[in-house]
Amino acid sequence: MPKIKTVDHLASIKSYEGVKPLEIIAEELNIPVAKLIKLDGNENPYDPLPEVIATLSSLKNISYYPDTLSSNLIQVLAKKENLEADNFIASSGSDELIELLIKAYANLSDTVLSVSPTFGMISFLAQVHGIKHVAVSQQLVKEESFAHYVLNEDQFFDEAKQSKIVYIARPNNPDGNVVSEKFIERLASLPVLIVIDEAYIEFSVFQSLAKWVSKYDNFVVLRTFSKAYGLGGLRVGYGIMSNDIRKVLISIKQPYNVNIAGQKAAISALSSPLVDQRITEMKKIREWFISQLCLLQNQFKNFWIHPSEACYVLLTFESPEIPKDLYEYLYSKGILVRYYSSSDMINNLRISIGLQENMVKVIDEIKLFLKGGN
Ligand SMILES: Cc1ncc(COP(=O)(O)O)c(C=O)c1O
Repeated sequence: MPKIKTVDHLASIKSYEGVKPLEIIAEELNIPVAKLIKLDGNENPYDPLPEVIATLSSLKNISYYPDTLSSNLIQVLAKKENLEADNFIASSGSDELIELLIKAYANLSDTVLSVSPTFGMISFLAQVHGIKHVAVSQQLVKEESFAHYVLNEDQFFDEAKQSKIVYIARPNNPDGNVVSEKFIERLASLPVLIVIDEAYIEFSVFQSLAKWVSKYDNFVVLRTFSKAYGLGGLRVGYGIMSNDIRKVLISIKQPYNVNIAGQKAAISALSSPLVDQRITEMKKIREWFISQLCLLQNQFKNFWIHPSEACYVLLTFESPEIPKDLYEYLYSKGILVRYYSSSDMINNLRISIGLQENMVKVIDEIKLFLKGGN
């Protein structure tokens, strides 16, 4: 049989590795799903919001296609953000918007720019569309117990001048760091599309830049219901941008990109007073977790902690064997954290913030491992 070749730029594509389903891991480890501690996807650790459960249980009319514009959801979002409805577009997760922006604004000769490390979807989707992705490496700086990635802003600015789309996750995934407003203002003065991914902004003390869309026509803010609102499985995100950019994205998106369950669940999640309470609690747990890690760091001195403005903490170890062995050790105990096999990240593990009692277990197990009890 003749083998049909893909388009050239897909010849060496590596598929995006999502997180493994819990049922498969449970079977592999012979541990019930309910006993697994899932800290590998920066997801919300709480039970679904009661308002969302009530909405999903009373869904009607699912035999009809959903509203193509998610109009009710957009109305609620516009009111909440104090912006116009025509500044908003809803999407199947914010991932979809990253792809729509690349499709709409990057010619084959254009470049998409980001820092490294950052959320892998930007390089993956650029590659899927045959667009060159340039990543400016950040420098890892270690100071006592802590490590920070430091961006050479002038180098990044020079690269931005040659780019069509500049993507910045703020806070950044995987380290939880936040690029300064001042630097973003400098970038926004360039004739390039600035995309600020605010997937984790709810966990940060820094303000959202959503309002900037009224000031800059080249400015897009991405948000998601997958993290603070706990709807990762329903795939709902949204973008905030000028009406001109919105119209372009609307004109090329799949018509029914957000399903009925997602649209309604997102509206209910926005009405829930529990969301803010849970965010506050997660931030407290994050600070407690970091304080415990500091104690371990002082004792063992073979890793560094990245201060985080998000719902996860990145650890950098002195050698790649430690995070690999620690990952495997935690996995064997049913604790799932994010391990990186790529050469630039091989010394790191990222641990999402979970329920307090689970984070206590994580600390206990890390301590046992570091003491050599594995
Ligand atoms: C920075 C960042 N943006 C976007 C996403 C994906 O969001 P969504 O679930 O809305 O596609 C993630 C997921 O981990 C992320 O880390």
